[in-house]
Amino acid sequence: RFKAVIFDLDGVITDTAHYHYLAWKQLAESQGVHFDQAFNENLKGIDRMGSLDLILASSPRRYTQEEKLALADEKNRHYQELISTMSSADLLPGAVAALDSVRRAGLRIGLASVSKNAFTVLEHLGITDKFDYVVDAAKIARGKPDPEIFLKAASELGVAPADCLGVEDAVAGVAAIKAAGMFALGIGHPFVLTEADVVITSLQEFNLAAY
Ligand code: G6P
Ligand code: MG
Repeated sequence: RFKAVIFDLDGVITDTAHYHYLAWKQLAESQGVHFDQAFNENLKGIDRMGSLDLILASSPRRYTQEEKLALADEKNRHYQELISTMSSADLLPGAVAALDSVRRAGLRIGLASVSKNAFTVLEHLGITDKFDYVVDAAKIARGKPDPEIFLKAASELGVAPADCLGVEDAVAGVAAIKAAGMFALGIGHPFVLTEADVVITSLQEFNLAAY
């Protein structure tokens, strides 16, 4: 039924969502802003500067653009330190099996992550060549929930959006998939990912024939 599957990276294929959480938490607390898992849920899938704006919105202080760029850099350096020791051991259970099952079914495979560190993470995981196309986040103007990144992946894969299955763990990501006119497979909890067409707990439950 589908011609392509477009995967998100952070929180779907590997648990970098946790590293983003740790790095943002340290940054937020250095600015006197309270930060917890519930707040972090809103940041999943949101690009770096967008996430920073959401965090600093709870600070009484006003930040100049220059200060914000410095804070974003600081967070990114911490994040890069955290991902520097990643390896194939950091693949989430079921991720490689899911990618291989899509390949065996003869579908195209794309990656739609707004992370500017996505290529580095894929290299560490050793799965770069499993994708036919990886969107370069630096070339995307609008982050999720805007559909741009999923539409770009579909067009580069040469597949109509309606023939694509998108896989996401973030509320903003599922919204982006739906706005792109694709079928949305959520990874997580149905109470959180309410817009998804189907929600599974992890890629261990991935079954292409079922959607
Ligand atoms: C992904 C993550 C977000 C992260 C964003 C930007 O979408 O889910 O938590 O903020 O990428 O990542 P970057 O590596 O460019 O800072
Ligand atoms: Mg994600």
